[in-house]
Amino acid sequence: MNPDPCRRGVLRYLALGAAAGGLPGAALAQTLRVSPREIVQAKDALNVSDFLPIAERTMRPAHFGYLQTGVLDDGTLDANRAAYRRWGIQARRLVDVSRIDLTTKLLGETWASPVVLAPVASQRAYHHEAERPVARAARSHGALQILSTMTNISIETVISDRQGPVWFQLYPTNDTEIAKSLVTRADKAGASAIVFTSDLLSGGMRRETQERLARTDPGDCSSCHDRSAGFADLVKRKAMFDRFDLGKARTLNNPSLTWEFVRRLRDWTEKKVLVKGIMTPEDAEMALAFGADGVIVSNHGGRAEESLMGTLDVLPAIAAKINRRIPILMDGGVRRGTDVFKALSLGASAVCVGRPYIWGLSAFGSEGVEAVLSILDEELRSVMRQAGVTRIGAIGRNNLTPI
Ligand SMILES: Cc1cc2nc3c(=O)[nH]c(=O)nc-3n(C[C@H](O)[C@H](O)[C@H](O)COP(=O)(O)O)c2cc1C
Repeated sequence: MNPDPCRRGVLRYLALGAAAGGLPGAALAQTLRVSPREIVQAKDALNVSDFLPIAERTMRPAHFGYLQTGVLDDGTLDANRAAYRRWGIQARRLVDVSRIDLTTKLLGETWASPVVLAPVASQRAYHHEAERPVARAARSHGALQILSTMTNISIETVISDRQGPVWFQLYPTNDTEIAKSLVTRADKAGASAIVFTSDLLSGGMRRETQERLARTDPGDCSSCHDRSAGFADLVKRKAMFDRFDLGKARTLNNPSLTWEFVRRLRDWTEKKVLVKGIMTPEDAEMALAFGADGVIVSNHGGRAEESLMGTLDVLPAIAAKINRRIPILMDGGVRRGTDVFKALSLGASAVCVGRPYIWGLSAFGSEGVEAVLSILDEELRSVMRQAGVTRIGAIGRNNLTPI
């Protein structure tokens, strides 16, 4: 029996609040509006947040905490969401919007939509088939999937399920040889780009919501996780590490890396290289100067630094600096097609979502992920009609007004 059900309820309520926008009021509306009983199949969901309470029900509290957490007071997590409310969309009338085209071109590849599946680690925590249902949904939807270094399923299997390329996200470890081998393996498997994540190199800040929810978990986490084993424990069920003698590797990230590493990455692969975790125009320019083919504006979904800067807040200055020389992707707090539209208007070429597709995955497997992608696309189409824009490339700054 749970010794402290009230406390656990409050903690879950707070975590829901963060996911729903950080405002207790928004969380309340969310919980009042949808009960898991009302959604028995993926197509019952009205919006992507409808999957959240079902996902919560299917997960252990510790895993739910890991998924939902930001850092410290979850202020940057909240800032990511809050930023969308500061922009209004210009409604335009009497434009022929009978055909809306979401086709998105990125670095020589064409995708059915600008909505991209962000890299999310360890998906077996959310579904017994882990990354495989996500790959199947990406295939049926024509979506770009970015696969985490910390995938439970091998990149070879995921690409076979996807029946097409994925992008591979790189955590470099503290051992350059391992980083190079990860890139070479992804390259050989057929990844069409390497996405180097730069925002956790020095370790993120403390994930307090995660720690609080883990304390409410009645299960025995030590049956799966042996913290005393350090890095070996961290990667023991991670398919990208299964062929390695871990050698000198001690950490997933490496605080001593500098921009030179991007140049080295360039030498290791002929595939496209992107830097994820960019939050300033200065760093976007550095990424470009050191050879990146693209950047992802991201603060790791509010899980890296507690800067209180939302990704949509910093996007316009980064877009102005880059001035279309390389594509900019963006993620953080995208929960609606209108959010996608705003990010595209402010200079993103495509927009990644993280937590929402994991809610869909844990609730309904592949169908849940497909539903999340379909809902976001349909919302995007409908706002494009209202804004009088018929193709992704035509969405621009003139479609928005600060409010
Ligand atoms: C549970 C979880 C695990 C994540 N794992 C990774 C990862 O392995 N590599 C990475 O670059 N980003 C990772 N991210 C960050 C996402 O790629 C993305 O930046 C973020 O989730 C976007 O914010 P959103 O969840 O609000 O959509 C993770 C995010 C979450 C929530």
